[in-house]
Amino acid sequence: MTSSWLIRIPELFAEFAPEVLAGLGAAPLKKLGSDYHLVQLADPGVPRDSEWAKFVGWNLPVHHAWPCCPQKMEGFVEKAAQAICRKFGARNPQTLLVGPLQSGAAHPYYKHLATNLRGRTLQLFPPLPAVQDVEAQDPTAPSLFCLVGKEGLFCGIQSPRDANGFYPGGTKFIRQNAPETISRAGAKIAEALHYLKLHRPELPEGAHWLELGACPGGMTSELLARGFRVTAVDKAPLDPRLNDAAGLKFRRTDVAEYQPADGEHFDALLCDMNGDARASLRQVVRLSKHLGKGAVIVFTLKGAGVESPAEMNELTRAALAYAAASGLALIAITHLTYNRREFTVFFERR
Ligand SMILES: C[S@@+](CC[C@H](N)C(=O)[O-])C[C@H]1O[C@@H](n2cnc3c(N)ncnc32)[C@H](O)[C@@H]1O
Repeated sequence: MTSSWLIRIPELFAEFAPEVLAGLGAAPLKKLGSDYHLVQLADPGVPRDSEWAKFVGWNLPVHHAWPCCPQKMEGFVEKAAQAICRKFGARNPQTLLVGPLQSGAAHPYYKHLATNLRGRTLQLFPPLPAVQDVEAQDPTAPSLFCLVGKEGLFCGIQSPRDANGFYPGGTKFIRQNAPETISRAGAKIAEALHYLKLHRPELPEGAHWLELGACPGGMTSELLARGFRVTAVDKAPLDPRLNDAAGLKFRRTDVAEYQPADGEHFDALLCDMNGDARASLRQVVRLSKHLGKGAVIVFTLKGAGVESPAEMNELTRAALAYAAASGLALIAITHLTYNRREFTVFFERR
């Protein structure tokens, strides 16, 4: 059976959307907002094991749609809230979240509308369980997600893990221009750690990260700010603001030359090295011997020089096959909001 789905393909990949949808076997119905596609797709939706799924930032089965122009509709919030309660009131979602179809600061109207609609719907809705904080959701329990934009209202019930994000649309806003920001890469690890909660419990404070390709240190500073210890390796220098940072050891060398001390073990590994992705992954595999069983690896798969989706798929296929053959089990591969044309891959040491 096929159903309607809302599929978000990041704007960065907009030119590839037809190819991605065809790869997923999705029949396009309508483009919505800046990067959503309303499609017909065979149940149970986006096949997570498809190599095209990594181009889908977030997805939702559409169980209720109201195509209309909310801005021109008298009493939109009240009518929409009542319709949501009629349709989903008996479904016991863990929470109810509403977001805008148009993302970004350029569209404050729909951001406010989403907030108002959520507020009114919560007043009318049967009492929800105590979980109201987006980040406190059980990643595997059903949530009611609603998206509202100039094309109308689209709602569905799906677990955050199946939707591929805790927030409606998947984006967690992370400030990138605070005065203390060392590099924009900091937002990537902040988002990656948030995303990982869909699949794994959080690492305890004090956990020790090995970080490859750390300079200038945006990610390092994010890890330290969370109370983790970090051994950072790079051939370039770290930002001087990290001089004497508590919990940080810095090894200035080529990663290929780096050898941890005898018996030294890490709880997690992060690699954001630039250059050839296969060479970076070889270093990750070599150093994964110093990780405990079940330790998590966060790897930015960069497609330097790789342009088309077919080439990205080919690079990914080779990387994942090599990792699997080297004892790294895939947890997830995704495109995060703060990624460029690259993917974040999460592995676990078997
Ligand atoms: C994109 S930057 C990393 C940004 C960093 N994650 C941050 O948060 O600021 C890539 C880094 O990888 C380092 N790198 C690439 N190949 C390397 C190698 N073979 N050995 C050591 N460092 C390497 C570069 O020197 C560069 O600093």
